[in-house]
Amino acid sequence: MTIMTWTPSLDVGVSKMNDEHQGLLKLMNDLHDAHQAGKRGFEVLKILDALGAATVKHFADEEVYMESVNYPKLKTHKLIHQDLLKKFGTFSEAIHAKNGEIGDDFFTFLKLWLSAHIKGIDMEYSPSHLAQTAPKKFA
Ligand code: FEO
Repeated sequence: MTIMTWTPSLDVGVSKMNDEHQGLLKLMNDLHDAHQAGKRGFEVLKILDALGAATVKHFADEEVYMESVNYPKLKTHKLIHQDLLKKFGTFSEAIHAKNGEIGDDFFTFLKLWLSAHIKGIDMEYSPSHLAQTAPKKFA
C-alpha cells in the first residue's frame, strides 16, 4: 500500500529536484510494500540501501543547485540534511541488525521528512519563492 503519493503541493519548481523527490517517494513506497508483504532480509535491505544512497545523492545535488542560485539559507539547509542523514543512518543500522525488520517509527520518520521537509524548507529555494523574497532594487 502506498503510504505517500506525489501531489502538486510538493512541487518545488525545479524539475531535477522534483524528479529526485519523486524517486525518493517511490523507494519509500516500495520499502513499505515489501514490509507489508512480509518480506525481510535482502529483499528489504536492498531497497533500504537504495533509499539511503538516493537520499545522499539528492542532498548533494540539491546543495549544488542551491549554491548555483546563491540561496541565502544554504548553510542551515545543509545542517538539516546532515541531521536527517544521521537519523537515517541510525535507523538503517538498526534495521540491518534486525535483518530487515522495520518498525512503524521508521516510516513515520520518512513520511514526515519527505512531506514536512519538502513542503517547508525545500520550498524556500523554489524560483517563485525566491522571486517573492528577493530584495527590491530601486533605480
Ligand atoms: Fe529535497 Fe532538502 O531535501
